[in-house]
Amino acid sequence: MKTYDGVFKRMVRELAVDWQGVAKTAVFLPSDSCLCLKLAIDKKKINKNTFIIAVEKDYKKVKIIENFLKSNFKNYYMHHGEIHQLNIDKFIIDRAYFDFCGQISDNIIDFLNKINIDDAELSFTFHIAIRNNKLINILNSLNYDYLNGFKNQIYKTGIHLLYKNGYKKSVESTLLGIYLSFIETVNIKLQFAYEYNDTSPMLFSKWKLTN
Ligand SMILES: C[S@@+](CC[C@H](N)C(=O)[O-])C[C@H]1O[C@@H](n2cnc3c(N)ncnc32)[C@H](O)[C@@H]1O
Repeated sequence: MKTYDGVFKRMVRELAVDWQGVAKTAVFLPSDSCLCLKLAIDKKKINKNTFIIAVEKDYKKVKIIENFLKSNFKNYYMHHGEIHQLNIDKFIIDRAYFDFCGQISDNIIDFLNKINIDDAELSFTFHIAIRNNKLINILNSLNYDYLNGFKNQIYKTGIHLLYKNGYKKSVESTLLGIYLSFIETVNIKLQFAYEYNDTSPMLFSKWKLTN
């Protein structure tokens, strides 16, 4: 069993669930160790009354996650499958830790686009070694004012982008993908972004969204 418990993983997990108040409806990709759920419980960010939506594509992990949900929450929804197959528009989400650790894809962007939010705080991890994808082309084609508005959000105080791996465009386009998924329907603000090396280059980001 992969435990996802390296030093950076622990650090971003702490940041990811450092939300205001207690979540009403929260989405997690907990894997079979459920460490993000356990931490959020310890930090009193979720409790037995929080409606948990857990997502997992690997069927071997689903049963373990479901047992954990059964013993800790009154109501939950376990989605077994790719996240973009989840009918997320049935719910209103106020907190989420989308710990993908994979690349942002068109399917994921379409999925994010369907989320209904209520004063939400959303955290993400994405693998950033992407090149020449659609988002990079969008980034390159943005008009100057739009690009500046977006980049001002990225480079604001408190945001730590190191670009130590030379993945500047990948970092920008990953953040752009999240930003564009929501900007048409809600106000979205980047609170924090951090590049780190897990088994591969990763980007953690945390966003605040208001209607
Ligand atoms: C990095 S692990 C999660 C670790 C956990 N959040 C923690 O804090 O330790 C990501 C989990 O999500 C699953 N996963 C990743 N991308 C997914 C997707 N697009 N749809 C469904 N499950 C996915 C993986 O199989 C894996 O079990």
